[in-house]
Amino acid sequence: MKGVILAGGLATRLRPLTWVTNKHLLPIYNKPMIFYPLEAMAKAGIKEVLLTSSPDHSGHFASLLKSGEDFGLKLYYAVQKNPKGGISDAISLAEEFAENGKILVLLGDGIFNFNLKNIVEEFDKKEKGAIVFGIEMPTDSGQYGVVELDSENKVLSIEEKPENPKSNIAQTGVYMYDARVFSFIQKLKPSNRGELEVTDLNNHYLKEGTLECRILDWWIDAGTSFDELLRANNLVAEKVKQGELQ
Ligand code: DAU
Repeated sequence: MKGVILAGGLATRLRPLTWVTNKHLLPIYNKPMIFYPLEAMAKAGIKEVLLTSSPDHSGHFASLLKSGEDFGLKLYYAVQKNPKGGISDAISLAEEFAENGKILVLLGDGIFNFNLKNIVEEFDKKEKGAIVFGIEMPTDSGQYGVVELDSENKVLSIEEKPENPKSNIAQTGVYMYDARVFSFIQKLKPSNRGELEVTDLNNHYLKEGTLECRILDWWIDAGTSFDELLRANNLVAEKVKQGELQ
């Protein structure tokens, strides 16, 4: 399986920090944010990763990450012409790279320490489908994609930033897709905010009954607000001092 990391978007919620730099290059305690998804890919046993970014910042990633060798990865780069085209638009750039195989997609602003290796191996053997990863939110699940599950963790619905969330489980920035993902993306239409949404993509799998959801123990979307960026910095600092992260 190959990996795709998305590092585009405009990060308007973090201006002025992001007027001249890309959000994924901002520090999370002792490393740039983008190091975390790269390390998660390597830990998951993925060898080749495509990093998608915006036209203004692609060169910055290449200067920082080079061939990917320092992470034990072979890195490829793609430019998303419209940096706000949406998560599914960015994933579509990986069609050739995926060579008809399954992919692990990580949003570049997600910080977590869960080892995906076993699930990657399990998913690789499956005939078809997709997996999303959820996390229980104490409050405010409605600013994310919200996953509704039954008592056996079967997915009942996923809604993007609903006004009245049906559960407290947020869809994180970790996804696994079979090779049909690119044909599903071709069927998507831009949402009200003008993006090809990952939630609409996941609903294609839900409709055919092949979408699974796993729950992560912790995961932070460091890119949603100054407070979440600060929380990610503090949490990572604590975990580095406890030896749980490097
Ligand atoms: O963080 C998880 C959430 O990510 C999910 O719960 C939501 O369902 C999903 O829609 C998304 O929500 P946001 O609207 O908050 O996503 P954001 O704009 O912060 O972008 C998430 C990541 O994807 C970020 O690392 C930038 C990258 N991205 C985003 C867009 C819109 C791209 O690379 N290209 C894009 O066009």
